Amino acid sequence: MTAAEQAWLACSQPTALPPKAGNREELVRALGGVPGSCRLVMEFGFGNGQALTALARSHPGDRFIGVEIFQEGMVALLKRLVAEGIGNVRMVEGHGLEVLSRWIPEASLDRAIISFPDPWPKKRHHKRRLVQVDFLEVLASRMVSGGVLELATDWEEYAQWMVACLEATPTFVNQNPEGIFSSAPADWVMTRFEQKGREAGRRIRHLAYFRR
Ligand SMILES: C[S@@+](CC[C@H](N)C(=O)[O-])C[C@H]1O[C@@H](n2cnc3c(N)ncnc32)[C@H](O)[C@@H]1O
Repeated sequence: MTAAEQAWLACSQPTALPPKAGNREELVRALGGVPGSCRLVMEFGFGNGQALTALARSHPGDRFIGVEIFQEGMVALLKRLVAEGIGNVRMVEGHGLEVLSRWIPEASLDRAIISFPDPWPKKRHHKRRLVQVDFLEVLASRMVSGGVLELATDWEEYAQWMVACLEATPTFVNQNPEGIFSSAPADWVMTRFEQKGREAGRRIRHLAYFRR
């Protein structure tokens, strides 16, 4: 990371998560949202923040939390938020599972987004995948009943893996009564990862599940 990027990260305090809240309402208030009308949205692995920024811009009453393990991604998102004057996003550096477990009270999230997670194609690396049954179980516990989990990948085998993990987590119910895969959500933002997948001729798979 360059000195300039470190300087950017040093200014990130206003976008940091507040101390852990005791429940959803406390968290919504701590994020400056209005309980009752504010939806809490969390994106895991936001990359350069392209989609998160666009979503936050189009849903100003909602509050967004982005998790990313890659520091350069944090800097990229911060630059976007500052450039566009967007104030409804908080970002956390870390592993999605750890951040969920430590910071998010039970029954808090209305929407969770996992778009184009690293596919880790080699079998011996599958354990590094973000989507795992233990991750989904913790995520389910942090989501409100009726909350929506949206996933997308351009890696067919990972799409099947996601379905297997979701089917092994009965708290999540497929939103599509007619099949397994869904169409993209109405406010979906195409990122450069999706663009690259399309250009390479890969099929984009979307999944949408309700939290029971
Ligand atoms: C292929 S990129 C996709 C980025 C973004 N979602 C998009 O569509 O442009 C996957 C991202 O997930 C991040 N990541 C990987 N494992 C993660 C984890 N356990 N927790 C949080 N972020 C993770 C990576 O650093 C990377 O930025």
